[in-house]
Amino acid sequence: MAQWKSGICMTGKLSGKVAIVTGGAGGFGKGIADKFKQEGAEVIIADMVEEAGKKTADELKCEFVKANVTSRQDWENLVKVADEKFGRLDCVINNAGTTYRNKPTADVTEEDFDKVFTVNVKSIYLSANVCVPYMQKQGNGGSFVSIASTAGIRPRPGLTWYNASKAAVINGTKTMGVEYAPDNIRFNSVCPVVALGTGL
Ligand SMILES: NC(=O)c1ccc[n+]([C@@H]2O[C@H](COP(=O)([O-])OP(=O)(O)OC[C@H]3O[C@@H](n4cnc5c(N)ncnc54)[C@H](O)[C@@H]3O)[C@@H](O)[C@H]2O)c1
Repeated sequence: MAQWKSGICMTGKLSGKVAIVTGGAGGFGKGIADKFKQEGAEVIIADMVEEAGKKTADELKCEFVKANVTSRQDWENLVKVADEKFGRLDCVINNAGTTYRNKPTADVTEEDFDKVFTVNVKSIYLSANVCVPYMQKQGNGGSFVSIASTAGIRPRPGLTWYNASKAAVINGTKTMGVEYAPDNIRFNSVCPVVALGTGL
């Protein structure tokens, strides 16, 4: 039965589920981890910033694993922790993301370009590459949610390659949604506009 806490309805619909939330140390990721906990899930916060990540995990009663989402080894470790600690993995929330300061596209450096595509896009490739086989073996389906952006649908000038990285997130998500439907593994993306007080 649904319960209300601080004006938020909690249905417990994630009870028994295990989720990895990347970039969960702060910003949207912290809010997602909090909501997943409220709904009954076990949550592993994966963030490259250890101090803030541990603090948030303690506050929300989550697990914390230091991880860089651009590293295959770190993804493999996340699955290992989920398996050893909880015996399963149901949800992957690909929230960690980055950008560069708004600037003329001709001034964007290769470093800027590589950063947005590695953190925003390669991370999702790695999450699927490492977590899908585990979920297929588990045989209960699964759910991936990637935090894209309205920038991936309705791009603004000065952030060309951030916008393009989010368009890639949306397209890759749709493609994998079709591809893995027979395994009952769902892929969705969410497109926020802007949240004040965050770096993006
Ligand atoms: N804030 C906005 O207005 C906005 C709008 C649209 C989309 N988004 C998207 O939402 C997501 C979250 O945004 P936010 O504003 O909460 O960000 P934020 O900067 O507040 O937090 C991002 C978190 O990701 C972590 N992170 C960054 N790179 C990482 C890496 N390589 N490995 C592991 N962790 C890493 C950071 O340490 C941080 O804790 C991003 O994907 C962003 O592109 C944000």
